[in-house]
Amino acid sequence: MARDARMSDQASAIPLCASADLADGGRAHVFDLLEYGQPARGFVLRHGGKVVGYLNQCAHVPAEMDWKEGQFLDDSGQWILCSIHGAAYEPASGYCVGGPCRGKRLKALRVDEHDGQVSWYPSVTLTPAFGD
Ligand code: FES
Repeated sequence: MARDARMSDQASAIPLCASADLADGGRAHVFDLLEYGQPARGFVLRHGGKVVGYLNQCAHVPAEMDWKEGQFLDDSGQWILCSIHGAAYEPASGYCVGGPCRGKRLKALRVDEHDGQVSWYPSVTLTPAFGD
């Protein structure tokens, strides 16, 4: 039963990029998706060796956060920083530790990494944007 559920999960995984494309503390892979049917963007990055994924939408106002395409982390590689008003988020949890939305969180994406591949699992509200 658990094996069947796992196989079903794998069938719904959307491949995003190769593991090697995500350097620890480096640039993110940004991709299009739909949130409640509306165009939005998500990103995955590697921090502390682990791949994390979030909707590219600040918890302060729903704006994209990257300084340049895929550039979310500050110079120290310690925080995800919003380029608009400087909110700082913990990469591992998406929790905002400083700035105008302190105490709020980024919307997490379910992602994983297997066999050199980083994948995303869509949800009821966050779905693939095909045809772009
Ligand atoms: S929009 Fe991100 S801190 Fe204001």
